[in-house]
Amino acid sequence: MPVIRMLSRVVSQMQQSPACGCWLLAVPARFLGTLPRQVQSDASFHSVSFSEIDHPRILITGGLGQLGVGLANFLRKRFGKQNVILSDIRKPPNHIFHSGPFIYSDILDYKHLREVVVNNRITWLFHYSALLSAVGETNVSLARAVNITGLHNVLDVAAEHSLRLFVPSSIGAFGPTSPRNPTPDLCIQRPRTIYGVSKVHAELMGEYYCYRYGLDFRCLRYPGIISADTQPGGGTTDYAVQMFHDAAKNGKFECNLKPTTRLPMMYIDDCLRATLEVMEAPADSLSMRTYNISAMSFTPEELAQEVLKHVPEFQMTYNVDSVRQAIADSWPMNLDDSTARKDWGWKHDFDLPELVTTMMNFHGSDTRVAQAN
Ligand SMILES: NC(=O)c1ccc[n+]([C@@H]2O[C@H](COP(=O)([O-])OP(=O)(O)OC[C@H]3O[C@@H](n4cnc5c(N)ncnc54)[C@H](O)[C@@H]3O)[C@@H](O)[C@H]2O)c1
Repeated sequence: MPVIRMLSRVVSQMQQSPACGCWLLAVPARFLGTLPRQVQSDASFHSVSFSEIDHPRILITGGLGQLGVGLANFLRKRFGKQNVILSDIRKPPNHIFHSGPFIYSDILDYKHLREVVVNNRITWLFHYSALLSAVGETNVSLARAVNITGLHNVLDVAAEHSLRLFVPSSIGAFGPTSPRNPTPDLCIQRPRTIYGVSKVHAELMGEYYCYRYGLDFRCLRYPGIISADTQPGGGTTDYAVQMFHDAAKNGKFECNLKPTTRLPMMYIDDCLRATLEVMEAPADSLSMRTYNISAMSFTPEELAQEVLKHVPEFQMTYNVDSVRQAIADSWPMNLDDSTARKDWGWKHDFDLPELVTTMMNFHGSDTRVAQAN
């Protein structure tokens, strides 16, 4: 077919596609030229074999942060220990190093990233490396490098090797001009942090690679994630994780956000399950490639009230951090995740009372062990 006719057919197919839908079926990668780094993909994800989807070989970047270790454990239970490789630029503690495959991988080193993907026959990539919102504001150039240049490397490697790619976005991808209560999937996004800007960039670039090169990109906007056994990495919602820890250990907590600051939150088990569910969803069930997901929403004072039911002597004081407060004030109070619920059956398990009981049971048992020793 002559190139001009072919392109005009592609353009007309794109015009008929839904605003946020994936044009993948209409625009096969081979029609629109070579991949950005000129390494021709051998196949679009449509030709990835059934067994590769059923038994993926998985790489997790930035895997030693708050979420990566839990994700590795969760995926290893499902796909086998040897099929899930954790990577980071930090040295893993002993128990993580011995719990399954770990390799050094710096996402800023494109050739090495490609070598890791090729040598380990990776088929799914979970891209967790990032500098989070509060930390990003203290080192904008590093945040820009890791969150934007690093993402470009990951996108190119994923497109070249026909990987299924998961990139988490965040409530931080919204800004003060977005509707805040609730925040829909599609609305104005003008964040005022380098973290938020990089997350909007990741959403748009991933969707563009999906349309343009057939990359099987999948993205969830996580709320603040609450985990019991891993430390948060410098985000604005970290206060909630710290409150459980300090309440169990000292019976008191100093909060760096105002008492009425409402933010969407989620327990880590729900977050990891959502991540796997969207990765396993059939491509034709996804009307979008970037989804809000939601579970609960609370303020520091509402969380403290719930903690008080478990630690009656608990006391909370406030020492507001103006940088974090400004970030929180520009973020959604509630996320509308109705499209995720409709398209691929998303449903959360943990509401606020279950979350607090689970967290206090975890930290309570820790404290008792510490006191016994
Ligand atoms: N934790 C949350 O509440 C939350 C909420 C929304 C979105 N997310 C997203 O989920 C992902 C994981 O979050 P997290 O809380 O585990 O983050 P984290 O900050 O705890 O961990 C990020 C990891 O990235 C690694 N890293 C930094 N530079 C790197 C580089 N050049 N190459 C490779 N790795 C590098 C760090 O060493 C760190 O272990 C991030 O993309 C984050 O934006 C997290």
